[in-house]
Amino acid sequence: MLEANGLKKNYGKFTAVDDLSLTISPGEGIALLGKNGSGKTTLLKMLALVQKPDAGEVKVDGLYGKEAKAKIAYVPQEIVLFEELTVTENLYAWSSLKGSENAARAEYLVEELEMESFRKKRVDRLSGGQRRRVNIAVALMGNHQYLMLDEPLAGIDEHGGECIARLLKKEKEKGYAMIITEHNPTILLPLMDRTLRLDGGHFVQ
Ligand SMILES: Nc1ncnc2c1ncn2[C@@H]1O[C@H](COP(=O)(O)OP(=O)(O)O)[C@@H](O)[C@H]1O
Ligand SMILES: [Mg+2]
Repeated sequence: MLEANGLKKNYGKFTAVDDLSLTISPGEGIALLGKNGSGKTTLLKMLALVQKPDAGEVKVDGLYGKEAKAKIAYVPQEIVLFEELTVTENLYAWSSLKGSENAARAEYLVEELEMESFRKKRVDRLSGGQRRRVNIAVALMGNHQYLMLDEPLAGIDEHGGECIARLLKKEKEKGYAMIITEHNPTILLPLMDRTLRLDGGHFVQ
């Protein structure tokens, strides 16, 4: 279980996320909705332990800090890849798996996200939608039980979206928890068990 308590983030005098608490159980899916600037990315980064809160804490299966972070796969809203490496090279480069486990996981992700036709291409030669799929895949090269995806469908076409939905459904069936952010309801919503809406750094109805 992931337990976030009293998370707060200020940028100067501006409070982007104000005293939010949240619990995620294994196998649970949460959609974090809200318009641009409502605090989704800031909250997700703190939940994923990639950004330090000004107040509050995150506990994952009883663990804190680095040990907790190792259980979380985080897909940033922006594309973060090695541009001059191929898709396959990126999968290996971002992996936190044991060496012997890499090939099987890479195969699985290439198949699920239908990346076969461009797996040997350099990332800087890919389309926006292809890059988005790789951005998700690299984050899943680990033994993570909590998946956090920031606007995973941004710039992706319908078919790409369906691939991502299918993959997330399988990960959920394995018992992994997930949080996705979106500014509009999407095809991923039916996969989620709960929806939380953010506005001005607060949860609203
Ligand atoms: N690094 C930053 N410095 C200053 N303000 C920021 C920074 N990151 C985000 N903000 C502000 O915090 C608010 C929430 O941003 P963000 O969490 O990115 O929202 P969302 O993901 O919902 O669009 C916005 O008003 C944004 O301008
Ligand atoms: Mg955002």
